[in-house]
Amino acid sequence: MDSSTTLISDNFLLHLTKLMHSTWRMQLFLVLSFLLFSVSSASQICADGGSCSVFTCGAPGKDGIPGVNGKDGLKGEKGDRGPPGSPGIAGPPGPQGIQGPQGQKGEKGESAIAELEGLKLKVSVLNGRLNALESMVKLQEKAQTYLNGAETAGNKIFVTKGDKANYDNAKTACTSKGGQLASPRNALENSAVNKISTQYKAAPFLGINDIQQEGTFRYPDGGIISYSNWQPGEPNNDHGVEDCVEMYDTGKWNDKNCGEIRLIICEFVV
Ligand code: GLC
Ligand code: CA
Repeated sequence: MDSSTTLISDNFLLHLTKLMHSTWRMQLFLVLSFLLFSVSSASQICADGGSCSVFTCGAPGKDGIPGVNGKDGLKGEKGDRGPPGSPGIAGPPGPQGIQGPQGQKGEKGESAIAELEGLKLKVSVLNGRLNALESMVKLQEKAQTYLNGAETAGNKIFVTKGDKANYDNAKTACTSKGGQLASPRNALENSAVNKISTQYKAAPFLGINDIQQEGTFRYPDGGIISYSNWQPGEPNNDHGVEDCVEMYDTGKWNDKNCGEIRLIICEFVV
């Protein structure tokens, strides 16, 4: 600064000072101007505690190092519902359901027809074998009749060896061979027994008796008889000792003493 400039400046300040001292209004103006200048050219830095410092502005400084991270903020609001997740694994099988209604019958298949034809052939073969068997049985019957005198009636065959015995021994002779004393249950069977007895010209003992209870005639198995062919006037339990039954040559029945000796005719059932 040269001397002329200094002189002007000094004069200016002197003049201004005089003016300022001239009135209290000027003083107030100066103070307000200074304060305004100070505020407009200063920076204010405040700490967390609320205390502040005021600095005058200089040239901008360099950027400082980054500060440490602040504290976590408040928890945010609940977000929107997310998309559906992927399907889970299959659960265990459930209980068995109830049986449904029966369906309609299907049409006849080719395999059923073939199977039916096969069955027809088998039936035909079996029928032939059955006929041959029946023929053999009839042959056996003829042979038995010639040898010992046998008669068939339904599923029952009556046979004798010509032996004779009292009731107890006759009974044992038959049961020991898997049969029992002839016990006709109908007219056909009664006729078969009668044929044998007339062939041997001997009256047989039947298996029927009233040994268990007088007057009640039973079969060997204990059942009460359902068929009878009594001679008129019989059974009379003559002398109170007649608990067994004999067959006359007419086929009629008479109650007789079990100790008598009579023809043994057994019956065998299929
Ligand atoms: C006569 C009777 C008969 C009796 C028999 C006894 O024939 O008519 O019922 O059983 O004698 O021997
Ligand atoms: Ca009698």
